[in-house]
Amino acid sequence: MKAVRVSFEESESVRKKLLFDSALDKTRKLVKKNGFIEIPVTESFDEFEFTIVEQDSPEYYLQKQTLVSSLNIPVSEKKLLPRGWNILGDIVIVTLNERLEHRRKEIGEALLCLYPGCKTVLLDRGISGQMRQPMREIIAGNGTETIHKERGCLYMLDAMRIMFSQGNLAEKERMSKLGRNETVVDMFAGIGYFSIPMAVHSKPKKIISIEINPVSFYYLKENIKLNKVGDIVESVSGDCSKLTPRNVADRVIMGYLDGQEYLPHGIDALLPGGILHYHEAVPEAVENRPVERIMEASGIQGRHAHIMSVRRIKKYAPGVWHVVVDAIIK
Ligand SMILES: C[S@@+](CC[C@H](N)C(=O)[O-])C[C@H]1O[C@@H](n2cnc3c(N)ncnc32)[C@H](O)[C@@H]1O
Repeated sequence: MKAVRVSFEESESVRKKLLFDSALDKTRKLVKKNGFIEIPVTESFDEFEFTIVEQDSPEYYLQKQTLVSSLNIPVSEKKLLPRGWNILGDIVIVTLNERLEHRRKEIGEALLCLYPGCKTVLLDRGISGQMRQPMREIIAGNGTETIHKERGCLYMLDAMRIMFSQGNLAEKERMSKLGRNETVVDMFAGIGYFSIPMAVHSKPKKIISIEINPVSFYYLKENIKLNKVGDIVESVSGDCSKLTPRNVADRVIMGYLDGQEYLPHGIDALLPGGILHYHEAVPEAVENRPVERIMEASGIQGRHAHIMSVRRIKKYAPGVWHVVVDAIIK
């Protein structure tokens, strides 16, 4: 079970932050170990700013039933059971070893019993295509629309049809502190992963949020209403290669991992001196690739890029990192 290891002095402020981010595992106790405090976190938590440890013998507030103890299946299958899952609003999302496919209904029912506040369990089989659509199946309960709360923002979504990455919390938090009084273009807005926290916490002058997937676009509009940021966020439905405005933005977010072909549009949108946040899935062997792509695309357009930072957000696949490059485009 995962925990964040911190000094005694910082433990209370980190505990409060994790609680606010819905990352605190409230079923386990804080544990003192080797002069540090271990704060229990959910299995999906993977922020780089913290030291994460695996607890061998976690301490629970109540002797909690576990997935393993609640299922009547052979020991050989119990060994294959997942050790973690994600909870989005009131929906549990779980990935299963293919040798447990025939047990999916029992596992789904057991998870629903463990989380009485949840209404549905979805089996996740990955994400596909340009529109980042999840491949999921209901294995227990019913209803797949939910409202997920994260860092003071509300996200309505249909968990069957929409992805919601919980692994880039630190990046969403960083974005939520940028953009004050600026004009921002979010070229791959999804349901508002970056636009909503930025609008709620930073209050830019305007965010133009473009999204191509009609289902995501529907929830983007719902989330603008839900978070009361209609005066800041303007939603635009369609392809950002056709709809990104030119020469208007102080800041452009390109939060699509395969978006190099859209770089000219992102650069074009920026006023001289504006800032580009360019995301890419980058194999370790070509670590400098996103920087080279920004430099090249800027040069072709007669602009100059000054690289401010390159940061790894999370592991995307073995040997491949989700990276974001910040660059000033002059
Ligand atoms: C990966 S998701 C957004 C993820 C979000 N930034 C995050 O980190 O969780 C990328 C979004 O870009 C949208 N998209 C892909 N190509 C697009 C295009 N050409 N124009 C506008 N939106 C696009 C997809 O439908 C998807 O909702």
